[in-house]
Amino acid sequence: MAVALIVAAGSGERLGAGRPKALIELAGRPLVQWSIDALREVPGIDQIVVAMPPRAPAPAGVIAVDGGDSRSESVRRALAAAGEGDPVVVHDAARPLLTGELVERVIAALEGDDRADAAIAAAPVTDTVKRVDPAGAVTETLDRSELWAVQTPQAFRRVALERALDLPAAELARATDDAGLIERAGGKVLVVRSSEENLKVTIPFDLRVAELLLAMRRGPRG
Ligand code: C5P
Repeated sequence: MAVALIVAAGSGERLGAGRPKALIELAGRPLVQWSIDALREVPGIDQIVVAMPPRAPAPAGVIAVDGGDSRSESVRRALAAAGEGDPVVVHDAARPLLTGELVERVIAALEGDDRADAAIAAAPVTDTVKRVDPAGAVTETLDRSELWAVQTPQAFRRVALERALDLPAAELARATDDAGLIERAGGKVLVVRSSEENLKVTIPFDLRVAELLLAMRRGPRG
């Protein structure tokens, strides 16, 4: 059986709500609760561990641990508190539009390739992406046909994730996702086509969009 880790310990400063992002109310539930509820729907997952901000109340029905100083440190702490589950699904609480269907597809992709260490949700980039120097001048236009915007959920073989996270805190702090640590170690990471709807809540605008999308999912009668 699989285990799911939700990282929810970020401060969410860019939302300007004066409290941790995971606890902000979104369509009637704390932000983190949407991810917990989506993961509960997945039959292959029998344990959910959540890395929460220190002193935050623990959500019901999950194992809660204090998060670390960086995202990957929070993943490492959550993994240390998890039982035997394998594969390990990692998800950011900042993506409340998660669906159980996407989690199942990510796990299935990993299980379908014996040589893969991880399978990650991602969507092809639609904007043109340029590299810009610190003075504000463009130095390069990247080939968009090769670019994907990476999301969570990300599913890992447990041993590969444990090895990838076995790094000094300063190096973990530079990682923006866990699959990047696997790639660094020469591991094989598969991409699973996701929807742009699985958006990341970073600024107040994202919170409004997420609220509208959740209202649409519930239908006209709410
Ligand atoms: O830093 P960023 O906004 O990309 O955070 C992505 C996810 O990692 C969020 O769900 C956030 O709560 C979590 N996080 C964490 N511990 C940290 C920093 C971020 O659990 N120290």
